[in-house]
Amino acid sequence: MNLNRDVSITWLGHAAFRLRTPGGKELLIDPFLSDNPSCPGEHKQVDKADLILVTHGHGDHLGGTVPIAQRTGATVVGMPELCYWLGGKGIQKAAPMNKGGSQLVEGIRVTMVHADHSCGIMEDGHVIYAGEPVGFIIQLENGFRIYHAGDTNVFGDMAIIRELHRPNLAFLPIGGHYTMGPREAALAVELLGVSDVAPIHWGTFPILAGTPAELREALDARGLGGVTVHAWSPGDTLRG
Ligand code: NI
Ligand code: MN
Repeated sequence: MNLNRDVSITWLGHAAFRLRTPGGKELLIDPFLSDNPSCPGEHKQVDKADLILVTHGHGDHLGGTVPIAQRTGATVVGMPELCYWLGGKGIQKAAPMNKGGSQLVEGIRVTMVHADHSCGIMEDGHVIYAGEPVGFIIQLENGFRIYHAGDTNVFGDMAIIRELHRPNLAFLPIGGHYTMGPREAALAVELLGVSDVAPIHWGTFPILAGTPAELREALDARGLGGVTVHAWSPGDTLRG
């Protein structure tokens, strides 16, 4: 994997990331920070963000999107229904889109792709429809392409993501129970054709029991011993 030296990708635990792009933009994905038990303390407060991508309305992904967007003035990218809900909370700077579409936001090319999951927002004891859950392909200014799968099961159309987008790095959930586990994620790696995978959505809570070691084993069992598993800890940064 060849990351430009001006890129840094920091895992904030669960499905949350902070990326600094080669163009100097600060990008957040699924900013579940203040209530995220695996987010390191120094990352819970965000003072600068240009762009926030939200995969779906579940609290462990939507997280602090509203206060962070208010504080930083970041543009939020998500499903139209999710953006309407955010609008009702006072977030006007949104760039809604839907599956299969791409748009250039803050100089970053974002494509919304399918995810196999659910999406309601829980508010005051009611479930609010928030569109569908999604994944993202994020193409940085230097052409580096990241696939953030969001919450999902493995699905055969990951082969289409491979064909159309050729991601260089995939963030895949492996915890099981609410998403795919290591065995399914190994098949996802095969369908996506990626050489680098960073496992997410594991270890945050005891029920998310899948581990990077199990993913490694499942990949080896599929003959994918050459795939790199970035078994990092929350707060760790991947650099070029
Ligand atoms: Ni979810
Ligand atoms: Mn989740």
